[in-house]
Parts: sequence; C-alpha cells; structure tokens
Amino acid sequence: MHRVRTIEGIREALTTPDHAGRRIGLVPTMGALHEGHLSLIRAARRDCDVVVVSVFVNPTQFNDQGDLAAYPRDEERDAHLASRAGADLLFVPDVDQMYPPGDSTTVSVRGVSEPLEGAQRGVGHFDGVATVVTKLFIAVGPDVAYFGQKDAQQVAVVQRLVADLALPVTIEVCPTVREPDGLAMSSRNVRLHPADRQRALALKVGLDRAAAAITAGSAPREAERQGTATMMTLGVEPEYLAVVDPATFLPAEDLTKPALAVVAAPVGDVRLIDNLPIPPRDAGRTDHP
Ligand code: PAJ
Repeated sequence: MHRVRTIEGIREALTTPDHAGRRIGLVPTMGALHEGHLSLIRAARRDCDVVVVSVFVNPTQFNDQGDLAAYPRDEERDAHLASRAGADLLFVPDVDQMYPPGDSTTVSVRGVSEPLEGAQRGVGHFDGVATVVTKLFIAVGPDVAYFGQKDAQQVAVVQRLVADLALPVTIEVCPTVREPDGLAMSSRNVRLHPADRQRALALKVGLDRAAAAITAGSAPREAERQGTATMMTLGVEPEYLAVVDPATFLPAEDLTKPALAVVAAPVGDVRLIDNLPIPPRDAGRTDHP
C-alpha cells in the first residue's frame, strides 16, 4: 500500500498505466479505523480494481473545536489496518491540501442537511461534509464511493449532492457494524466511561422499541414516544428519536414506504447516534386497526 499526501500525487498514482481504465473505489474516513470502516474497505476490495482510503480529520465539519482537538489520530495504526483490509492507496492530505490558503468555496446541500443532525450540530456540519466529500471526489475520481449506514443523514446528504451535481460516482451504502451486544461501532465509543458503556445500549434498545411499535401498528409519532420512554427508563435522554423519510429526513407519514428510525443522545460526555431501517408496511393495513 502506498501513502500519498497531495492531490497531485493521488492523481499521478491513479493515472499510471497500472491503474488506468480500472474501477476505482474510494472509502472516505477521518481515521481512528474500526471494524465499521474496515467493512467499507473490504466491500471496496471485493468490487473494485483499485481501493483508495482517505484519512482526513476534516476541520470544517466540527462544530466544537475541543472535539476536533480530541479526535483520535494514529496514522501508523490506520495505515496498518487499511492495508490489511485491502487498501492499495492511503490518501492522507494535510489541511492546506484540502483547504488551500484563501480557500473560500463551500458546497452546501439545502433541505436534507437541515433537520436533526443539521439542527443539533449547526448547518456548518453538513456543509463541511459536503465540501470535503466533493473535494475528495474531484481529487480521486472514484467510480464507486463507500459510506456507512451508521451515518444515515450523511448518506442522504451525499446522495442529494451526487444527484444535484450529476457527479459520475456510484454511492454504495454498507450496513452498520455493531458490537456483539448491539452498540453501533464508532470512533467515539473509546471515550465512553466504563460505567456509561452499558447505558450506551439505550440508543439501540430505543430504536428497537420504536420499530416494534410500528410493526405492532402504531403511528410514527406514537412509536417515537415509546422509543423515547424506553430510553429514559434506561437513564439516557435522547436529543431526538424520530421516524423519518430516509431521503429527506422529514417526519415519516406513509409507512407503506421505507422509513428510518434515527436517534442521537449524550451518554456521559460522549454524543452518540444510531439508526434502524424500518421496512415498508403492507399498503392495505391501517395505522389504527
Ligand atoms: P468517519 O466518521 O471516519 O466515518 C467514515 C465512514 O465509516 C462513514 O461512511 C461512516 O458512516 C462509516 N462508519 C462509521 N461507523 C460505522 C459502523 N459502525 N458501521 C458501518 N460504517 C461505519 O463519516 C466520516 O468519517 C466523515 O464525515 C467523512 C465522510 C470522511 C467526511 O469527512
């Protein structure tokens, strides 16, 4: 696996005769790699001829400078894990490669980036994501880019971005990888105080409860209420627990279409998110039998 630090370098690496005309897969990450990231790299390895993993802690998507400073960084460990999972190239740009001096261009996706995570973290968060993802797509020129269902609203923002700009890239969404007990893997889990690790399960339990309520015939707002109440009994107060349309992130109304239960909650001083797809209900069935 080669490491490349510049946009010029990644372009050169991908246009050598070796790589020309081959299917390029990109896995964008901020490093601190875990099994969730590695599942994306392995999927890219299966589908593509050339696998590029980017590791860039993107300053523009952090609303909290303390969170940015505390973000775990270990390039050697990431390089080792990415290589073992099948990466050919590790793209590790410096901040001024991605944001050159005087940089003043932002990619902003309206609508889907505004509710829930957008509202909690501020609109700047998804502007930062959309901007860096656009820059990575332009630098690498992937045929396929891999994203995790774990960050479902990010997926919806990226899909909107790709559709609106007609970017020539296919977005592959890979399922959320979980710990054996159900906790969604996240780079932030290592910051959970041992006493909070058990409580962190409340997010998944709340989502399961909301999904079960819908299966049992409840309307979306009632399912949200039940999921929230379940989390509260486990000692975790959600910032939101919502049943949404997975494309717009607006409240789901029609459960004969696929829906998504999404949740965010602070557990101790760590903010966690999770989600659970809800399969469409039979069209003939009513909400209130
Ligand atoms: P990061 O948080 O490092 O995540 C990189 C990718 O790994 C994202 O697509 C994310 O959804 C996926 N991922 C994280 N945890 C996962 C899990 N438990 N199961 C499956 N996939 C998981 O998301 C970002 O970085 C950044 O916003 C980025 C897209 C790189 C732009 O800066």
